[in-house]
Amino acid sequence: MRSPAKINLGLSVGPPRPDGFHPLATIYQAVALYDDVTAVVRDDDSSVSVEVVGDFANDVPTDETNLAVRAAQLLQAEYDVEEGVDLTIRKTIPVAGGMAGGSTDAAATLVACNRLWGLQLSQSELQHIAAELGSDVPFCLVGHTALGRGRGEQVTEVMSRGTFHWVFAIADGGLSTPSVYRELDRLRPLRRVETPQVRPELLSALLSGQPGALAVALSNDLQKAALSLRPELGDTLQFGLDKGALAAQVSGSGPTCLFLAADSRSAVDLAVELAESGLCRMVRQAEGPVPGARILPAPVNR
Ligand code: C5P
Repeated sequence: MRSPAKINLGLSVGPPRPDGFHPLATIYQAVALYDDVTAVVRDDDSSVSVEVVGDFANDVPTDETNLAVRAAQLLQAEYDVEEGVDLTIRKTIPVAGGMAGGSTDAAATLVACNRLWGLQLSQSELQHIAAELGSDVPFCLVGHTALGRGRGEQVTEVMSRGTFHWVFAIADGGLSTPSVYRELDRLRPLRRVETPQVRPELLSALLSGQPGALAVALSNDLQKAALSLRPELGDTLQFGLDKGALAAQVSGSGPTCLFLAADSRSAVDLAVELAESGLCRMVRQAEGPVPGARILPAPVNR
């Protein structure tokens, strides 16, 4: 399976609901920064195992708190599955980085196990299970560019023209999503918080395919909370803007910072500048939009 990272081009957050989640109006985009998830069926027993390799392997749990393991176990429980699965995740997406890395591995696992265990679940059945696992998991199944409502789990595809060129500054360490939402609530007087909305200029920028129009339409309500918890991210954002990024923004709940470049060449130049700046742990470039979690052809020599 190849499972993409997500970014939020617009993220408008309402006041907390009684269940603690925040109502959102967000525009998600899947970008070409991928984890690879390999799933091998076990027909001898029903155990679910996971091995994690790659850039961020040490930061990922391999017990039942791993969201991909929970995805497989949830399918087993709901559909009385007796087979198991051995998962291997090659991690390229930062962990706790605001790019839905865990969610996209879970989405890939749902698609893989649906196939391996012959469940024949429809897309909408998979979406339903995905929503139980996390707010971003349904989007990771569909990918491309989409509107997210509810707590982010109700997704509808949005028209987008062309390809956008993104650069990501991956910070040292992660940020816990609940703590960023809590910080947002602490920072703003809740009685003044309005119903979350997508900016119309964001939708028209996506339709135009013009990076210049998209640059002025990006927004993220969680940014002020992420910057309050990690003030040094402000320097990273400013550095990118000084070096020619059309726009700079914290990705989701952070701490990854994203930069929109005018074209692929400017993205390379910006990535080099950021890599040499010493402001971040690593730098990645990726285009968007791309499809959601999908099955790749099996390697020939296996
Ligand atoms: O849905 P997910 O498990 O990814 O959410 C992680 C945490 O982020 C939630 O427990 C909640 O604290 C916070 N969250 C929120 N509102 C959302 C999505 C997430 O408050 N819409």
